[in-house]
Amino acid sequence: MMRHTLVVVMLALAALLVGCDDDDTDLATSRDPVPPGNPVTGREIFRFDTFGNERFWTDTLRMHEVIQSSVDPLTALAVGLKVDADALPPGILTQVDLTDPATTVALLELGAVVGLKAQVENGTIRRVGVTCALCHSDVDDSVQEGIGRRLDGYPNRDLDPGRILSLSPALQDPAVQAVLTSWGPGRYDAYWNHDGINDPTVIPPAYGLDGVPVETFTGEGPVSYWNAYVAVTQMHSQGSFFDPELGIDIRATPDLVTPKLPDLQAYQLTLPAPAPPAGSFDADAAARGAEVFSGQATCAECHAPPTFTDAGERVHAPSETGMDPVLAGRGTTDGYRTTPLRGAWQHPPYFHDGSAATLAEVVEHYDDFLGLGLSAEQKADLVEFLKSL
Ligand code: HEC
Ligand code: HEC
Repeated sequence: MMRHTLVVVMLALAALLVGCDDDDTDLATSRDPVPPGNPVTGREIFRFDTFGNERFWTDTLRMHEVIQSSVDPLTALAVGLKVDADALPPGILTQVDLTDPATTVALLELGAVVGLKAQVENGTIRRVGVTCALCHSDVDDSVQEGIGRRLDGYPNRDLDPGRILSLSPALQDPAVQAVLTSWGPGRYDAYWNHDGINDPTVIPPAYGLDGVPVETFTGEGPVSYWNAYVAVTQMHSQGSFFDPELGIDIRATPDLVTPKLPDLQAYQLTLPAPAPPAGSFDADAAARGAEVFSGQATCAECHAPPTFTDAGERVHAPSETGMDPVLAGRGTTDGYRTTPLRGAWQHPPYFHDGSAATLAEVVEHYDDFLGLGLSAEQKADLVEFLKSL
């Protein structure tokens, strides 16, 4: 009994010592995997945690002033912001003026604007920050377009992050404005402020990633790696990110990001890719398309079930599948990860740069580029199969 108590005390002391690590992080580099976490806490972090990035969105970008003076709800919806209907008191939307910025402030005070978190005092926004949900949650439009129940993990392809950033008084340099307004809805460049190259990608889903060996279009690493990258270098949160391969070493004390990565990752891995809506594809054609997919069209050589990505951590040179090479050269892998295909029906356009508007265009691209010689019927069947995933 005594011995047991002693062991417990020693373990507690060891834990304390580890906790006193002077840079507040237990990760050697941000590429290291994190231990398992709690998805319930992770959901709160994903939706509501700004990791202290108010210092950037408020103190530097002064977005609180922009929203206060000129962003009425119709403008907010027009740049792709979404409203969480569950956070609204019943009937409120019939009583408010959607052309008045004060209504936006009221919605922020209710915590109803997805991905934006504000501190409001007597009708004035004091602080504002952003959360992961800004780009990676949508709503089901059940009240009206842009207003409904949260759909976490769905990419917000209506959101125009560049347009939103371009409203900041701190970003009025014409060269910066030109870049920010060139992206358009559903696109963002997560490396531009690091390497100065303007080559945005579509915002990808954060669902369907359980069992997918590497994340991001260029297969940079685990979910936690990319979460830390985005939280620290893009959302400008108060946290540490250390990656010798990218040459980035940012340390913050206290570190409001690193300790949350296990829970945040655990939540994302619980998000399933959405099933196709009933009646959205022809089941007989999809069954024939499955044969084409793993046969003549050679798709399954890279897109392997059940997630339809590569089994290992391999990436493909852009020339293997006829992709634009720029992004591959900006990451550290020089290639593209085979995109998992579950839920692909939900998020057109396709490929990292959105260069294929529809699944039919994807199939045409491969038929041309790989010289597959598919018949019109085989192509149509393949599209039905893709819609069924
Ligand atoms: C401003 C919009 C934006 C915000 C905010 C944002 N992301 Fe992303 N996210 C992106 C873009 C764009 C990519 C694609 C980058 C790439 O692959 O090169 C991405 C990639 C990802 C991926 C990889 C998906 C895949 O298929 O591999 C995950 C997971 C992810 N983000 C989760 C998060 C989490 C968690 C947060 C909050 C810490 C977050 N993101 C904040 C835009 C955003
Ligand atoms: C040599 C490996 C390889 C083969 C063969 C291959 N793919 Fe891909 N696939 C990839 C890679 C890599 C990407 C990511 C490219 C990008 O984002 O630029 C991709 C992306 C896609 C996407 C886009 C998904 C999204 O969400 O953007 C679809 C759809 C797709 N492939 C379907 C197919 C079909 C159908 C076939 C067979 C005709 C096929 N692929 C054959 C490697 C392959």
